[in-house]
Amino acid sequence: MAVRRLASEQPASFEFTPENLAWAKGKIADYPEGRQASAVIPILWRAQEQHNGWLPEPAIRVVADMLGMPYIRVLEIATFYTMFQLQPVGTVAHVNVCGTTPCMLRGSEDIIRICKKRIAQHAFELSPDGRFSWEEVECAGACVNAPMVQIGAETYEDLTEDTFNALLDTLASGGTPTPGPQSARKASEPITGATSLTTPLRYAVAAAAEAPADAAPEADVNPSTPAASDQSAARPSGHNRTEVEVTRATGEAPSKAADVAPAPKTDGRLADTPEEAAKQKPAEPSTEALAKPTPPAAPQKVETVAPQETVAPQETAAPQEVETVASEVPDSAAAARADELGTRPAAVAEGDVTADDLQKISGIGPVIRKTLNALGIYTYAQIAAWTPQNKAWVDGYLAFKGRIDREKWVEQAADLAAGGKEEG
Ligand code: FES
Repeated sequence: MAVRRLASEQPASFEFTPENLAWAKGKIADYPEGRQASAVIPILWRAQEQHNGWLPEPAIRVVADMLGMPYIRVLEIATFYTMFQLQPVGTVAHVNVCGTTPCMLRGSEDIIRICKKRIAQHAFELSPDGRFSWEEVECAGACVNAPMVQIGAETYEDLTEDTFNALLDTLASGGTPTPGPQSARKASEPITGATSLTTPLRYAVAAAAEAPADAAPEADVNPSTPAASDQSAARPSGHNRTEVEVTRATGEAPSKAADVAPAPKTDGRLADTPEEAAKQKPAEPSTEALAKPTPPAAPQKVETVAPQETVAPQETAAPQEVETVASEVPDSAAAARADELGTRPAAVAEGDVTADDLQKISGIGPVIRKTLNALGIYTYAQIAAWTPQNKAWVDGYLAFKGRIDREKWVEQAADLAAGGKEEG
């Protein structure tokens, strides 16, 4: 890894164009309040694109100011990631040649030799006309299409000396080369052609072409149709495969295909006929099973409610478990334990206040919210006013002790009470 330092000669200032500034503000707005720093990499990249492919020091300061970050933090990012160029590069192209083992075994040294000959003898050196430069980089994640180079945001793969020379010629003449494999293959398919998934589109494409415009494109997926049974001999079986094929061919969501896909046989194979599939269809859940358990009536006065000790609230429990746990109320043993730990915070009765959505506090889910309600806690203001003694008391009812402080419930509640937004 080369030592990455800022160029000795820097412009006096940097300013985003109005268009890029608007884009950057939009990017910042993608992140929740307090998380603006997450936009640092895309905004640095936009600054680099604007400044002829390299990032000057004033741009680093501008980006830091926009995001409210210390200059050193942004400098660390710019100097760490090799995607950021810290000195002038070719105005037409800076060629990143992957030299890691797979690319080296597939000919990256030939690519570098051409760079030395046609661009400049040394990495980061500008070509005589200042339009090209190159460097050797580590694996860029396109090893299956080695050797490759990256130029800007695009990669050019499966290179040979001839195709790389042609690539440089295209760029030099102002053209735009086609990114991706420079061989005949598509993506990372085998170089000798596809060896699987060779027939799946036949039936779906044919069906889509023959069907009336308003016909449901997935109709022929039904295995009972003659067309489908004819195709089945050439097609591997499998529910997922059917979905993928229909999705690829028609653009339909897989769920539609799933509606007509054959049901699995009990031995794991697919049903041959709709009748067989119907027989194998799992029994509908009974009305009783579907009925949602009725939660017990909420307490009117918290003083009459006692915490339940043996079943701790678990936000990650399966839905049925959550319902079961949530429907139970704290018992007297837990109340006694809480009284030993701290002091009960002010409680209110349901209906005496307008309840806040306590689940906006990060860490509070439906189960804990019900527990808090059962303890007479309904509002952000109540939680915001908790003293350490109050927190210790409430902690007595929680499965994971100390989470009130760890998750900053009181601070979050204070923010929400003041009109802030929930944690992202
Ligand atoms: S080794 Fe060159 S892209 Fe991975």
